[in-house]
Amino acid sequence: MIIAVFGASGRLGHQFIDAATVAGHTLRLHYRAKPSALVPEHSTVIVGSLADPTAVREVLRGADAAVVFLGHKDDARVPYIAAATKLIVNAMKALAMSRLLVVTGATVGESSGNLGLAMKITGAFARRSAHDGMMEDRDEQERLVRNSRLDGWTVVKPSRLTEGPRSDAVRMAPTLPVGMGSKVSRASLAKVLVQELEAPQYIHQSVFVAER
Ligand SMILES: NC(=O)c1ccc[n+]([C@@H]2O[C@H](COP(=O)([O-])OP(=O)(O)OC[C@H]3O[C@@H](n4cnc5c(N)ncnc54)[C@H](OP(=O)(O)O)[C@@H]3O)[C@@H](O)[C@H]2O)c1
Repeated sequence: MIIAVFGASGRLGHQFIDAATVAGHTLRLHYRAKPSALVPEHSTVIVGSLADPTAVREVLRGADAAVVFLGHKDDARVPYIAAATKLIVNAMKALAMSRLLVVTGATVGESSGNLGLAMKITGAFARRSAHDGMMEDRDEQERLVRNSRLDGWTVVKPSRLTEGPRSDAVRMAPTLPVGMGSKVSRASLAKVLVQELEAPQYIHQSVFVAER
């Protein structure tokens, strides 16, 4: 499978590149600056702005699926994720692509039914202390994907991400209790993302992810 990766330079991006390459997939990797790390031999690197429709389209060209791992820096004040996701969705439609996996977060958007009380309170504090518009950017990203009318979208909402080793005890489900102690390593998440691309189970769904 040829997979377009947005957020390739991030920590989850690195883990996904490893997992997808081991599984034999070919990658089209987006970076906003020339990557410092080596990329897998058969992958293609596209450097450009996520605000540039031509660059976004080039990342997607010839791909069977796209994954989005974009996040905000801690000190970020300018929302960009919803706008970039909109460009990706529109370009996918123009290219007749449908399979899209977008990673957001357990406390983003619609999630209250899955969160324990402490998580809800922590999430509310995080929202109040976040810079203006940043949480709303993520909520809007989720809304855009859910309303995208793409035939193959999945929103993936992990609990806290860690740098731990890959675990086989990972649960991914539309309904999953997420508490203060819930976590999943980026390596484990990358593995289940590759599995979801290879054998889709959650088309048109939002799914939570945590290690058991
Ligand atoms: N941390 C957690 O516990 C947690 C929990 C649940 C969900 N998540 C979500 O999981 C996803 C992956 O997380 P991660 O830890 O891999 O994130 P990360 O390491 O911070 O990577 C974020 C990615 O977003 C890109 N990015 C940041 N600001 C940008 C901008 N202004 N314009 C364009 N690209 C920009 C980065 O590119 P550069 O390298 O060029 O900056 C990088 O590729 C994110 O959506 C995150 O919110 C995180």
